[in-house]
Amino acid sequence: MSDLFLPDGLTRTDGTLYVESVPLTQVAQQFDTPCYVYSAAAIRNAYREFVEAFAGLDPLICYAVKANGNLSILRLLSQLGSGFDIVSGGELSRVLVAGGDAGKVVFSGVGKSAAEMAQALQAGVHCFNVESAAELHRLSQVASRLGLRAPVSLRVNPDVDAGTHPYIATGLKESKFGVAYADAFALYEEAARLPGLDVTGIDCHIGSQITDLAPFIAALEKTLDLARRLRTSGIPLRHLDLGGGVGIRYRDETPIVLADYARAIAERLQGSGLRLLLEPGRRIIGNAGLLLTRVEYLKTSSDHRFAIVDAAMNDLIRPSLYEAWHEIIPVIERPEASAPLDVVGPVCETGDILARGRHLSVSAGDLLAILSAGAYGASMGSNYNARPRPPEILVDGHTAHLIRRRESVEDLYRNEWPLA
Ligand code: LLP
Repeated sequence: MSDLFLPDGLTRTDGTLYVESVPLTQVAQQFDTPCYVYSAAAIRNAYREFVEAFAGLDPLICYAVKANGNLSILRLLSQLGSGFDIVSGGELSRVLVAGGDAGKVVFSGVGKSAAEMAQALQAGVHCFNVESAAELHRLSQVASRLGLRAPVSLRVNPDVDAGTHPYIATGLKESKFGVAYADAFALYEEAARLPGLDVTGIDCHIGSQITDLAPFIAALEKTLDLARRLRTSGIPLRHLDLGGGVGIRYRDETPIVLADYARAIAERLQGSGLRLLLEPGRRIIGNAGLLLTRVEYLKTSSDHRFAIVDAAMNDLIRPSLYEAWHEIIPVIERPEASAPLDVVGPVCETGDILARGRHLSVSAGDLLAILSAGAYGASMGSNYNARPRPPEILVDGHTAHLIRRRESVEDLYRNEWPLA
């Protein structure tokens, strides 16, 4: 833990870890563990970092709801002026209930149902990011039936390697996402002829947790080239959506400097007449949240040491699913231990491992903070092993607001009944 990285919003004061002005010991006492804790200031700062870096371009920033769709977080971002990138009718409902502006929503995803299309058309979303010819035809039909025209972008697959985990790389040829680059031009011509569509933009998203600028630039140049060719052929576009994917620091990564990203885009977009759209998720919420957990037991089995904690893979699946590395630190400062241990949860799966080989000196009852868990933590949570999902707490200055209460066991079988 020599060069420990403490994300924005976290401090250690007199040996105790705080989120803004609230000690995590107090959060545990008030809300019990496990629980997710977010810093409102960190979310605001991360959003403003985008606004400031891209100020010259006046982009539409559409926060990717899938990273964390808690209503209070959506409201906070909407109050800052954010738009939203959604992938389902459920996410659209969340945005609207939270007070988000439908006119700043882009609808992504490969499998939109006719009902979801109708819901989004009636709400008046900014754009549909369409991913196949079949989807284009369905959308035109649904819009025509409603007497509306659907604003569309094609999500083009630029076939660039984002150099990220294969499960979260989406811009390669073999990925299920997007329209093949070579087919996109013809598909745009087809879209322009369909009665229910209004062709407004072009979109790409090449993957997630990207820490190198080069793949973004390669994707931008390819989509921009296509947009220019379309304009020459009488299909002028109004916006270019570069998706999300900007990575964060979990351990020792060097994230992209947003000002560099903005400069690279501005140089290339200049004179194109295209407005920039961005769909950041992780970069806004990832480092702004942590999972607070308590050690239940220490266990040694044939020399292997385990700390069994009360959080598990159902609460945070990233380590099990992607072998993702999350920093884990004690809430009350302790010296580093020499012998490593694995931090595991109570779920009955060998893969229920939150971290391996950590030099934590812990005792039963100790509180641990699993850092950088704000993105794809709570939103990917499940009830596996009949575990109620943890509460979510948003700290703002001196106040810890409960923004999702702990599920009860009854919540888990609310929609079931034992068949007579
Ligand atoms: N736009 C589209 C079309 C996307 O598919 C995604 C993420 C985003 C934006 C936001 O990407 P971000 O800025 O957050 O990287 N569960 C995985 C990440 C999956 C990302 C899926 N798509 C994880 O925990 O790492």
